[in-house]
Amino acid sequence: MAEAEAEAAGDAGLGSAAAQEGAELAAVIGATVPTGFEQTAAQEVQEKLGSASRISRDRGKIYFEVPARSLPEVHRLRSVDNLFVVVQEFKDYQFKENKEDALKDLEDLVKKLPWTDPLKVWELNNSLKKKKTKRKKHNLQSPASRGKLSDGGEEGGADQNSTSDQEDCAQNPVAVEPTGGQDTENPQGVTSRNGVEEEKDNEQSDVKVGVEASSESGPKAGEGEVKVLRFRVTCNRAGEKHSFTSNEAARDFGGAVQEHFQWKADMTNFDVEVLLNIHNNEVVVGIALTEESLHRRNITHFGPTTLRSTLAYGMLRLCDPQPTDIIVDPMCGTGAIPIEGAAEWPYCYHIAGDNSPQAVKRAANNISSLLRKNESKDSSTALGVPLDVIQWDICNLPLRTGSVDIVVTDMPFGKRMGSKKKNWDLYPACLMEMGRICVPGTGRAVLLTQDKKCFAKALSRVGHIWRRAQTVWVNVGGLHAAVYLLRRTWERADGTRSFW
Ligand SMILES: C[S@@+](CC[C@H](N)C(=O)[O-])C[C@H]1O[C@@H](n2cnc3c(N)ncnc32)[C@H](O)[C@@H]1O
Repeated sequence: MAEAEAEAAGDAGLGSAAAQEGAELAAVIGATVPTGFEQTAAQEVQEKLGSASRISRDRGKIYFEVPARSLPEVHRLRSVDNLFVVVQEFKDYQFKENKEDALKDLEDLVKKLPWTDPLKVWELNNSLKKKKTKRKKHNLQSPASRGKLSDGGEEGGADQNSTSDQEDCAQNPVAVEPTGGQDTENPQGVTSRNGVEEEKDNEQSDVKVGVEASSESGPKAGEGEVKVLRFRVTCNRAGEKHSFTSNEAARDFGGAVQEHFQWKADMTNFDVEVLLNIHNNEVVVGIALTEESLHRRNITHFGPTTLRSTLAYGMLRLCDPQPTDIIVDPMCGTGAIPIEGAAEWPYCYHIAGDNSPQAVKRAANNISSLLRKNESKDSSTALGVPLDVIQWDICNLPLRTGSVDIVVTDMPFGKRMGSKKKNWDLYPACLMEMGRICVPGTGRAVLLTQDKKCFAKALSRVGHIWRRAQTVWVNVGGLHAAVYLLRRTWERADGTRSFW
């Protein structure tokens, strides 16, 4: 057992024998990932855990099997948002056409499912979380309060709570925030455009059912004492051929879960979140292992378009950073990309800039938070982060020609940030200036935008310095966006300023 795991298992005060048993099990883990970056996530799992992944037909999810004792490493993956342990997966579930019959089948399914081992894995996961919490010396937030977790204080302005074209995501018909296995959480006080949208006929719903009773078959809290677990069911449904809504599925499935385990239903203060994911004829029942998306790891000071750290990680991986590379985000906003970069690629030097003083301040605050976090860890990471932030205009960067290896940035979409009209001038100027600073022949750029038409036109104007190598279609807060990997040609960039 690895040192960290041994430590976790040793003095986390493993809640129960079930948790210890759980460590010996193999667990099938489901992970939600930024859509478009499923392959990246699968590669990361292979590299760090040695497991092959299966990419779900339902985009934005991968599945892999690991020994349950590897859960700490699973939680440290950079490309996954939410994690769950799979109870059972049905690749070709036959739904009855009649609504009552279809719902009755879902109800009946509950008692046939192999819950025991996944619940042991869940218990083990809880004991690891307790350990982490103890280390951090602050209370584990209940799912009910976690929405307030990342409100960066100064960010709580009106625009934080409003929705915009960029940030809309499917609303839960029963108004509670979804969690594990969901990609649509939009924490209170923090608006980001990164919620991944569900397609039109997708729905998700939570259900509150039943009355309190003591647990017979569910996990026990401690010796002698039987804790009544609180649970909720979250149903995520996509597909046109279902005769029922996600709300109805969650309600009836939840009722059966309650009856089977004698747990107490509680939509907001739950211990167990049961997930019912239905995508056409694919049904996956799981138990959530994360209370909040892992993409919220770096940022404490949010802005109107803060990028998910998981998406930032995917973008950075796309340009394959090498030790000593100089990586620039010239429109860094709150710094999600360079902060993820500095955390994951500490042997590169990262430079971040933005023309908005407020954005630069937020980025600086986020870097300070990271420094503080590192200081409380071991001494090797307390040396600082290889990242500087500066206020500048992307059209006139104070950087030498040919001095930068990689540019990674999230461009203004022209919706919430900037305007489509401005992009017609901004995009070609950006590409020119990025071309100037990047090393000819080896330089690369990874650029995210939803304004694809404008980007294509701008790129056609600078085709002599940039060659498009790859496009990844991603979903950013319900918007169909693209991540372009560009390679710098050997050509000299026009408009090179002689004084740099
Ligand atoms: C989509 S946002 C980037 C969000 C960022 N990835 C984050 O996580 O917060 C685009 C950023 O480009 C910046 N920007 C727009 N025009 C710029 C310019 N001419 N020079 C530098 N930054 C610019 C905006 O201030 C904004 O912060």
